[in-house]
Amino acid sequence: MNILVTGGAGYIGSHVTVELIESGYTPVVVDNFSNSEKFILNRIEKITGKSVKLYEGDCRDRKLMDSIFSNEAIQGAIHFAASKAVGESVSNPVLYYDNNINSLICVLEAMSNYDVQNLVFSSSCTVYGQPDFLPVTETSPIKKAESPYGNTKQICEEIIQDTSKSSALKSLALRYFNPIGAHPSSLIGELPIGIPNNLVPFITQAAAGLRDKITVFGDDYNTPDGSCIRDYIHVVDLAKAHVRALDFLDRKGASFFDFVNAGTGLGHSVLEVIETFQLANQIKVKYEIGSRRSGDVEKVYADASKARKILNWTTKKSLQESLVDAWNWQKTL
Ligand code: NAD
Ligand code: WQD
Repeated sequence: MNILVTGGAGYIGSHVTVELIESGYTPVVVDNFSNSEKFILNRIEKITGKSVKLYEGDCRDRKLMDSIFSNEAIQGAIHFAASKAVGESVSNPVLYYDNNINSLICVLEAMSNYDVQNLVFSSSCTVYGQPDFLPVTETSPIKKAESPYGNTKQICEEIIQDTSKSSALKSLALRYFNPIGAHPSSLIGELPIGIPNNLVPFITQAAAGLRDKITVFGDDYNTPDGSCIRDYIHVVDLAKAHVRALDFLDRKGASFFDFVNAGTGLGHSVLEVIETFQLANQIKVKYEIGSRRSGDVEKVYADASKARKILNWTTKKSLQESLVDAWNWQKTL
């Protein structure tokens, strides 16, 4: 079964491409390499022993999308392609609304033109903002987005929901919590451009001596050690959820939309992550306590029971394993 993977050379998309191949699917990747590198596709081939069909280009290019669907007998799509830096979305909102929304629209149009029904969409726990109750369930209300990036995820979910009501489209939005780690082969992983925004790449770069020290953004939150709490999920566990999601959609009748949390169900603080990284890898990381980062929520972690129920999927890898894999990947860089 040929599956279109938009953004398949990216951090999460590359791990999903591996899992698809290992589960017997044939991924067809489209990527414009705006935030990824071509060598990742060779690495996927190295891991799986299979070559990966690549279309280099932009999802917003309707001609390109049409040629992919007409050449490849696509039977489902996983849509990762998007811009994802929260801060950049605040300084350049138009870039984010254009890329994230128009990419989705072009994918939906092509799917409709070629009668392709199954779509897995990359959403984010950012749609919940600071939830009133933890762990956060899918019934929690969507709060006003903290950033244009977050807003694009809310809007994209609405576009998909409306489209599924008016057509045969079947779609599941996976609301990712905080993906971390890398493939245990250390052949693929996250490739942050410039100074990382996210915690774990910053820690691994600090451990590698590329950054002097890590600043913990606030230790005066209402949490046991004062630092923020998140639900960190190993990227390989997350990748497997996408394969389950495709299988799930295959069993569904036409015109379906739902969303599901993709997290571990466990919350860990920033200081715990740093401590676990040091212990697991037997390496010191210099850190200092700084002021709060604007827009950060205090604590959020998933209620993972819906994913267990509908996808028969749970995470297997610990925080410690994720941080070992993240460090092994950093060492290859
Ligand atoms: P990434 O930047 O590593 O991957 C995105 C890929 O899409 C890149 O390879 C990029 O080159 C490509 N791309 C971007 N715009 C494109 C376009 N218009 N046409 C073709 N290719 C395009 O990001 P990621 O971390 O793998 O995230 C994948 C998806 O998951 C995104 O939609 C992101 O918003 C979402 N998400 C990520 C996280 C996270 O923390 N990484 C959390 C929640 C949701
Ligand atoms: C995690 C924790 C920081 C860096 C972001 C997006 C979200 C989703 C995932 C896409 C926070 C703290 C971080 C540092 C720190 N992406 N931190 N020092 O903010 O939970 O989520 O990525 O959808 O939408 O907002 O992830 O990794 O940036 O931060 O103390 O140098 O680490 O304050 O508590 P976040 P993160």
